[in-house]
Amino acid sequence: MITLITNIKELIQVEDFPKKMVKGKQMKILPTIKNAFLLIENDIIKDFGSMKNVPKKYDKMIDVNGKMILPTWCDSHTHIVFAGNREQEFVDRINGLTYEQIAKNGGGILNSAKQLRKISEERLYKESSQRIIEIMKMGTGAVEIKSGYGLTKEAELKMLRVIKRLKQNFPITIKATFLAAHALPTEFKNIKQGFIDLVLQDILPEVAKENLAEFIDVFCETGYFTVADTEKILKEALKFGLKPKIHVNQFTAIGGVQAGIKYQALSVDHLEEMRDEDITALQNSDTMPVTLPSCSYFLSIPYSPARKMMDAGLPLALATDYNPGSTPSGNMNFVVSTACIKMKMTPEEAINAATINGAYAMGLEKTHGSICKGKKANFIITKPIPSYNFLPYSFGNNLIDCVFIEGKEI
Ligand code: NIG
Ligand code: FE
Repeated sequence: MITLITNIKELIQVEDFPKKMVKGKQMKILPTIKNAFLLIENDIIKDFGSMKNVPKKYDKMIDVNGKMILPTWCDSHTHIVFAGNREQEFVDRINGLTYEQIAKNGGGILNSAKQLRKISEERLYKESSQRIIEIMKMGTGAVEIKSGYGLTKEAELKMLRVIKRLKQNFPITIKATFLAAHALPTEFKNIKQGFIDLVLQDILPEVAKENLAEFIDVFCETGYFTVADTEKILKEALKFGLKPKIHVNQFTAIGGVQAGIKYQALSVDHLEEMRDEDITALQNSDTMPVTLPSCSYFLSIPYSPARKMMDAGLPLALATDYNPGSTPSGNMNFVVSTACIKMKMTPEEAINAATINGAYAMGLEKTHGSICKGKKANFIITKPIPSYNFLPYSFGNNLIDCVFIEGKEI
């Protein structure tokens, strides 16, 4: 089935040859075609170009009459599979407690772990499905989802099996990450090595055997897991073919960026606290720095120094971090706006970061992240807007008319 979409006011993020990512100054460039057409065959982009060269052969035509089209968002960092919520902690923080204090009192990740262990796999799947539908409607066409709220073999496998079912049942492309060491569970209090042994000797081999994850993650942070713990876990996981994508530099910079690079991490994520040496280390690597501005917004912690990083020639990806504790929102439109407003990214930089660079951060740059022949027919049709700058400018408003994933309207 060939579908022709005509009269696109501006077709955004087009490319003739698929690129890996964009970095530094290139991030300011967002290639577009004004007054364009888009031709899709089933789930794949077949052609695009100026309306002057509109194709004559097609089965179905959609005239979008002056609306704009851009590729769907690539959200490379989420914890969408979770149980319950943490709204009480939200109120506690308003009343003066910090995220760290709440975690020390047994809340935080351990609160989510308690709820996750109790929920049935079926219910977890249903609740997570709702969130998948919600993010697809907001324009996300590819997403990474982490485990890490189980913290026992049984509960981690439950999370990862739910992610596997989501992959099978929804058109959105999903990548799974085994977040092996997210927090130390209560039963291992003061015996961290025992927990790491459980992860490496018992859970990881099963995750690999059942083929439940592509990536490995660790929360490398003061009070959670050290650089030495992180390296130990990454090294072992690499033997099972799991590539690192790790949580680093959220509250403190302790060398997690360097550990990630050493073990060929596909991405290092959070980066609210960046030292000059962390930026230098990233300059000579293929590791994508991923920033999560809606987490900074929700927790009132610093934003990543995106300008400084891009001015140093680095690439940058934007993701939501959708999770019950630090970012209860999977809205990539808000992330793009917040990146412009709070991190001084230009709309071009933010859109690049949320599309092609997000795709790279999931190993999906060959199939997602741009309007390119042969890539997935994943795109957003906007409401009538004066220019693409209007997307981040009009923050909090829904400017999406409809979303196509794998060639089908959601
Ligand atoms: O990316 N920082 C670690 N993990 C998650 C949130 C954890 C939680 O509070 O549930 C994050 O922010
Ligand atoms: Fe996270």
